Amino acid sequence: MFRHAIRQKSPGERLSSLASIEELSDEAERFLHQCYTELDRTAELPARCRAVAAAIRADATYDHTFAELEYGARVAWRNSSRCIGRLYWQSLRLRDRRATDRPLRIGEECVGHLREATNDGRIRPTITVFAPDRPDRPGPRIRNEQLIRYAGYRVDDGGPPEHGKTLPAPRALPSIVGDPRNIALTDSVRALGWYGHGTAFDILPLVIEAEGYRPYVHVLPQDCVLEIPLSHPRHPWFADLGIRWHAVPAISDMCLEVGGLHYSCAPFNGWYMGTEIGSRNLADADRYDLLPAVAANLGLDTTTDRTLWRDRALVELNVAVLHSYEQAGVTMTDHHTEAHRFLKHVAKEERAGRVCPAEWSWIVPPLSGGATAVFHRYYDEADVRPNFVRHGPEGHGPERHGP
Ligand code: ARG
Repeated sequence: MFRHAIRQKSPGERLSSLASIEELSDEAERFLHQCYTELDRTAELPARCRAVAAAIRADATYDHTFAELEYGARVAWRNSSRCIGRLYWQSLRLRDRRATDRPLRIGEECVGHLREATNDGRIRPTITVFAPDRPDRPGPRIRNEQLIRYAGYRVDDGGPPEHGKTLPAPRALPSIVGDPRNIALTDSVRALGWYGHGTAFDILPLVIEAEGYRPYVHVLPQDCVLEIPLSHPRHPWFADLGIRWHAVPAISDMCLEVGGLHYSCAPFNGWYMGTEIGSRNLADADRYDLLPAVAANLGLDTTTDRTLWRDRALVELNVAVLHSYEQAGVTMTDHHTEAHRFLKHVAKEERAGRVCPAEWSWIVPPLSGGATAVFHRYYDEADVRPNFVRHGPEGHGPERHGP
């Protein structure tokens, strides 16, 4: 489960060898070159490279300036080959919190992140960067894969502490209430003393780890999490299903790698594309698994696959998601708009003389793939830095498409 005092080798710890220091110097120099060239500040480059080289010789690490970190975070987004929403990479707002080290303060800053990013529904792409890994001291980490996640309870092993209003139990996994994806995390926070209400949409607290501290549980205040109850523009019964989702997807378990430095705690968010919720979170058989319930309410014939009841239920579920966010005034994009924007982004990158790394199976949306333009071509699969990378051995297991 959670590591206490003893950690696996972190990137910072690996830096102590000479080879790693050389690697860091190379990475740093490559990054500075790219950064100052793109920012049109090449006059400053030689002095900056000398200063960084000296810092690395002395301390086996160095510090980014605010402008370097801001550029690095933005380009990490630009290089995220699985993200279809990269046209606006230059709009990413950096909250520089490298000096914040106590777990409680980190939790409070995550709450601040959610408030600023939510912005009453006009979602702002935002990243909060905490201290990077250092040769002598790993940076902090957030155990949750996103700042906002719904608990998952296995009902047959003691289950939720009490039963509130719940959805009909998912069909494929009859004994689970909430998001099955988060069962392990839910178990961990319960072991640390937290307990939820036992509803299908209990917001999990953050679990923050920092060197020298025990894992710290930070409960998110209700008012920093904007949620949208789902309804359908033509089917009044839909609202009675009691389905909701949150406004801000904020990834919190990826490591921002810039110029050889690893910021292992750097939660970042954009806004949602409807299919992430309507075709995956609420529809996958191992998530909320709602297609059977939606199909039943639509009166579809579910006795054979060939009636395409799943497909029809999927479309209505996605209609409900887009409709509800729109009604609530919360930023959300649809997969057709986003596919066009993405191809515009690819063309823009090519004009700037860059390749745009992209993974087809992540870029193509999980609904009507072939009806979007991004389906009908291939992409460059380069893995370049700066980027958001997965943490090491204690990560979250096998990766799937489009979490
Ligand atoms: N797919 C994830 C989810 O449904 C969020 C991933 C990031 N998405 C985004 N639009 N920035 O929660």
